[in-house]
Amino acid sequence: MIDTPCRLQGATQCRSPKIMKKQHILLIDDDESTLSMLSKFFLRQSAFVLEESDGTHALQILQEDVFDVVITDLMLGSVTGIDILKKVKEVAPHTEVIIITGNSSVDSAVQAMKQGAFDYITKPIDLTELNLVVQKAYERQRLVAEVKNLRSQVNDLFKFDNIVATSPAMQKLLAMVRRVARSTSTVLIEGESGTGKEVIAHAIYNYSLRSDGPFVAINCGALPETLLESELFGYVKGAFTGANLTKKGLFEEAHGGTIFLDEIGETSPAFQVKLLRVLQENEIRRVGDTKDIVIDVRVLASSNVPIKQLVDEGRFRQDLYFRLNVIPLYIPPIAERREDILPLALFFVERYCKRTNRSLIGLSRDAMHKLELYDWPGNVRELENTIERAMILAETDEVTADDILLENYNGKKAQSYNFSHMTLRDLERRHIEEMLIHCGWNQREAAKRLSIGYNTLWRKIKEYGLERA
Ligand SMILES: Nc1ncnc2c1ncn2[C@@H]1O[C@H](COP(=O)(O)OP(=O)(O)OP(=O)(O)O)[C@@H](O)[C@H]1O
Ligand SMILES: [Mg+2]
Repeated sequence: MIDTPCRLQGATQCRSPKIMKKQHILLIDDDESTLSMLSKFFLRQSAFVLEESDGTHALQILQEDVFDVVITDLMLGSVTGIDILKKVKEVAPHTEVIIITGNSSVDSAVQAMKQGAFDYITKPIDLTELNLVVQKAYERQRLVAEVKNLRSQVNDLFKFDNIVATSPAMQKLLAMVRRVARSTSTVLIEGESGTGKEVIAHAIYNYSLRSDGPFVAINCGALPETLLESELFGYVKGAFTGANLTKKGLFEEAHGGTIFLDEIGETSPAFQVKLLRVLQENEIRRVGDTKDIVIDVRVLASSNVPIKQLVDEGRFRQDLYFRLNVIPLYIPPIAERREDILPLALFFVERYCKRTNRSLIGLSRDAMHKLELYDWPGNVRELENTIERAMILAETDEVTADDILLENYNGKKAQSYNFSHMTLRDLERRHIEEMLIHCGWNQREAAKRLSIGYNTLWRKIKEYGLERA
């Protein structure tokens, strides 16, 4: 069989060679000889340099062009370095301004720093010192850009466009999400572990009229009852030992916004009574308090066990179930929507490449086959983790079936795990173990595939206490 790799669209985008960006510098000084010295110096550093000796002209240039760094003398005649600084901060706040000053005007330079100059240097100009300051300014810009980029990535993560929904079942679900987002009704999201309940809860919030308000999430299954109560409702000083302060609960924190009660099925019936009261009255009472506080919070809840089943088993109060289940959303397991497997896999491949700045990688036909045939007991989370691991393993720009290590392939028991709880060491241990199993404990082969020496592998096997099952 000919193995045709499947490439993602936009591959060329990621493959473009890295081009070092040329820095744009504007030099302003009324002393022509200083100007030409600085200009020569920075041209040699491969920057684009514009020099200007007239302050008024410089202000005009700033109005029309954007620079990475502006280096300006403090005394320029009628226009001062401070005027230049103010203009820069007004038209291009990310541009860094470096002030050059005579010894006598250090005070004004300090003044300039307070108004947002990046740094100042004193005359006579030491080019090495100036260059160092300029490099630091670039570095700060790079960091600012990086933070901005990360922030937008985090926001993107929960936008609709980032929910893969190819199957008719998911399409229907998203249509429903769009519709319910705008109401303020309580929504109960059910689905097996890893199907995307949290993703859907975020999407509802993002598309709701409350998207400017807070989104507060709490995993109800992770806390013992008393702690859950004080977390959600808050407490007053002296309510219990250790309550040294009065503290707002999460319901209050979520006022005007949305609260997501994750794994609500794991709460006790006693707690459920209190929750029911909150939903009915829209009021909460801090632990140890005597007065109620009115709240305006939209409630989203989730469970990986059908709540109806818990009600039948007497583990969940029926009245609360009815109150929560105003709008029920069910996310089917992946095995019931196989059309989503490949789109999800490609989505995770692309995201991984973007995150790690790797050129885009394709999936071979047999890799795709392997993914499609598997049942994914850990659902989307398992698929996501499997792809990430495959990407780390892939030796070429194509993921092959061998790179796809499945948790309970060959009858090995599935143990869904979450990357966010693993240390690098855990991951290494796990990865080495998987590889050994994959290679039938042929250590030479495993070492080769792991791209480490045989001795290193041997040492790691001892260190992690790995044993053949
Ligand atoms: N339709 C989807 N498109 C893209 N990514 C998804 C989709 N569904 C789930 N994911 C991703 O899969 C992972 C698991 O999703 P999520 O945490 O929402 O599942 P969950 O149902 O809340 O799981 P659990 O029951 O274990 O808490 C997340 O990293 C999420 O980003
Ligand atoms: Mg969850």
